Amino acid sequence: MYFNNAATTWPKPEVVYETVDECFRSLNSPERTVSDEGERCAAMMANCRRQVSEFFGIKDSKRLIFTPSATYSLNLAILGLDWHEGDRIVMSGLEHHAVSRPIRKVAREHGVQFETAPYTPDNPVDLDFVEDQLKKGAVKLLACTMASNVSGDVLPSKELGDLAERYGALYLVDAAQAAGILPVDVDDLKADMLGFAGHKGLFGPPGGGGLFVRKGIQLNSLAEGGTGKDSGKHEMSGRYPSNYEIGTHNLLAIVGMTAGVNWISETGVDTLHAHEQKLAERFLSGLSEFSGVTVYGSPDIAKRTSVVSLSMEGITPAKMAQWLAEEHNVSSRAGYHCAPLAHETIGTLPGDGTIRFSFGFSNTIEEVDQLLGFIAEAPRLEGQLNWVV
Ligand SMILES: Cc1ncc(COP(=O)(O)O)c(C=O)c1O
Repeated sequence: MYFNNAATTWPKPEVVYETVDECFRSLNSPERTVSDEGERCAAMMANCRRQVSEFFGIKDSKRLIFTPSATYSLNLAILGLDWHEGDRIVMSGLEHHAVSRPIRKVAREHGVQFETAPYTPDNPVDLDFVEDQLKKGAVKLLACTMASNVSGDVLPSKELGDLAERYGALYLVDAAQAAGILPVDVDDLKADMLGFAGHKGLFGPPGGGGLFVRKGIQLNSLAEGGTGKDSGKHEMSGRYPSNYEIGTHNLLAIVGMTAGVNWISETGVDTLHAHEQKLAERFLSGLSEFSGVTVYGSPDIAKRTSVVSLSMEGITPAKMAQWLAEEHNVSSRAGYHCAPLAHETIGTLPGDGTIRFSFGFSNTIEEVDQLLGFIAEAPRLEGQLNWVV
């Protein structure tokens, strides 16, 4: 049973496998080739860019950069800005390394200061704190995830966008845990930049992601090279999106995520979300029957995704995950989930982190019930706690 959909979704809808397979077999040229195939490839790329843009409400598809990952997208958004000593950044306490590490890098290298907003499960990002920081001035960037990959908390992303707009800060949204899971519209969120992964909620293969950058923002590129455009010039053109899409495109990742996006649009984000919420609700309600289990994040199902992190008395998250894998063929993820900041925020670092279960469209209520049964019989290493109250 696969419960690690927050890391990467699996399985993918059948149409994703079919589309990737068909593309890999039938396209023998990158879009730069002068041939029918090259033209077909260019048309396919343009189509993918248009369809993925539409999915996120991006009106000008040139402002969508295809990248190798959400990590690359978020690094480009943060490191690509011009930083000066005295600039300030505000982020939530739930950020993933993909956001917090580049922020620490600009702080280290440019004398930029950053602040982290306080958290409670009822209030995952303290908006009063954010507003106070923005009022103090010099905040160049407000960077927040839409949903935590650790606690499953959904952040008030629209309210954050309103605040950023009111005080003139750039607003970067990390949609890695939201794209395909919650409705995501760049205008609705007032996002200046928004990064996402292709292989998570969008059901694409690994190796693809995207970054939306609003018109008027000119990022510095992180890498230089061939773009297939402006080939006769020695310098990069600065044009969107080619300036940032150096080297041969990962066409399979791009067509795969586009097939995923189209499948989601046909199925409905709301339908998928409702299914995953039902699974999470059942899981949370089952867990509440156990003693010695701490569940993190909001207890309110409306304020969270189906990512559920917990810790258990008497067994470390790592040992529990290993036991579940070895004894019951259950996939989960234990530890710090590339987000030590989030673990400090929820109080599991210092400590062993959590064991995380994340449900997807193909999981069932029966699987959740089985998982609860396994948890009930988990071995206790120290002391023999009685899990079931
Ligand atoms: C909130 C969040 N941001 C960013 C990322 C990075 O995504 P990727 O590994 O696809 O680069 C992840 C991946 O787990 C994530 O959960």
